[in-house]
Amino acid sequence: MSKYRNIVWFLKAMQEYTRGGYETASRNFLAKDLSVNLDGQSFMITGANSGIGKATAMAIAKKGGTVHMVCRNKERAESAREDIVKEAGNNNIHVHILDLSETRKVWEFAEDFKSKHTSLNVLINNAGSMLNIREVNFEGLEKNFAINTLGVYILTKGLIPLLEKNTEPRVITVSSGGMLVQKLRITDLQTEKRMFDSTMVYAQNKRQQVVMTEEWARTYPRIHFSVMHPGWADTPAVVMAMPQLYESLRCRLRTPEQGADTVIWLAVSPAAARTPSGKFFQDRRMVPVHLPLAWTRYSREKARALMVRLETLAKRIQPSGGRSQLNSPAIETTGSLQDCIKKAA
Ligand SMILES: NC(=O)c1ccc[n+]([C@@H]2O[C@H](COP(=O)([O-])OP(=O)(O)OC[C@H]3O[C@@H](n4cnc5c(N)ncnc54)[C@H](OP(=O)(O)O)[C@@H]3O)[C@@H](O)[C@H]2O)c1
Repeated sequence: MSKYRNIVWFLKAMQEYTRGGYETASRNFLAKDLSVNLDGQSFMITGANSGIGKATAMAIAKKGGTVHMVCRNKERAESAREDIVKEAGNNNIHVHILDLSETRKVWEFAEDFKSKHTSLNVLINNAGSMLNIREVNFEGLEKNFAINTLGVYILTKGLIPLLEKNTEPRVITVSSGGMLVQKLRITDLQTEKRMFDSTMVYAQNKRQQVVMTEEWARTYPRIHFSVMHPGWADTPAVVMAMPQLYESLRCRLRTPEQGADTVIWLAVSPAAARTPSGKFFQDRRMVPVHLPLAWTRYSREKARALMVRLETLAKRIQPSGGRSQLNSPAIETTGSLQDCIKKAA
């Protein structure tokens, strides 16, 4: 079955995810959708120093929005900020340093941001990674999972109270069409038991982002949640993580701006706000989260079970009044992860 999924997916990808796919889809885009003034609105974008995140930050800055760039490297972040301020002529661009693989710091960052800011209109979970070797973080979590899944979960959950203070808050998560080949998994979240295949770990994390978005949309009706695939864009992440794919497809890849188009549309357009919350988008259109006949469908119970596992892990790592809840007996996790977390404590 997974062979069938991979073949169907690859044929689809070559047609839709490439630059040609964007050019075809963009014939139906309405220019007026993006003609908005974002004065007085604030946007947090993770991974805003590069690729799709930087292109998104630039477009929002040009429309007058305040941008909070959340980046892990100060030098790269400051250099991108300089470019944005200069090209957009907007000084309301702020850098925050956070490595999303440092799970406890994600909690601390969200709490700190909430205490210092009275408003946030839109959160864009853009940062992502595909680390080709299995590494664990301080808390003993596999790093791709920590960055792509738990980091997104904690940052979003932490900022929901702030987002809910606004009238039309939005959360956009940049997933990947690669998730279509993955059936949702709620066990072995740290890839301790199965063989570590970074492409599949990444695709599974991206599937989990889709499920989180669907579940949040049900739980928080005052916020508009969406998740999207940017297509295949020429960015450092692709060069680093998939050098062979990059070499064979480089002339067919989208520009970062083309990859960012749907992120921006979801973040700012009135048209996107009218779509139902919790959906998956590609090129400004809602698209299915499963390939035909691919047997990747999951039950509500399974989706909820994932959320419970994430909440459990997040709570275990959440600092509370200066002390973490690492030893809370009420919280269960897998034996080996618990061991890792205890060692880290
Ligand atoms: N490009 C594509 O074809 C494609 C396709 C599908 C999905 N995506 C998704 O698009 C999103 C943006 O990627 P991109 O293609 O624009 O690549 P990119 O230019 O390499 O940007 C990735 C961003 O994520 C940041 N990041 C990575 N790990 C981080 C961490 N631990 N903490 C904080 N920030 C971290 C990177 O920071 P540094 O600059 O410090 O590394 C960078 O700013 C990702 O979620 C990716 O999975 C991209």
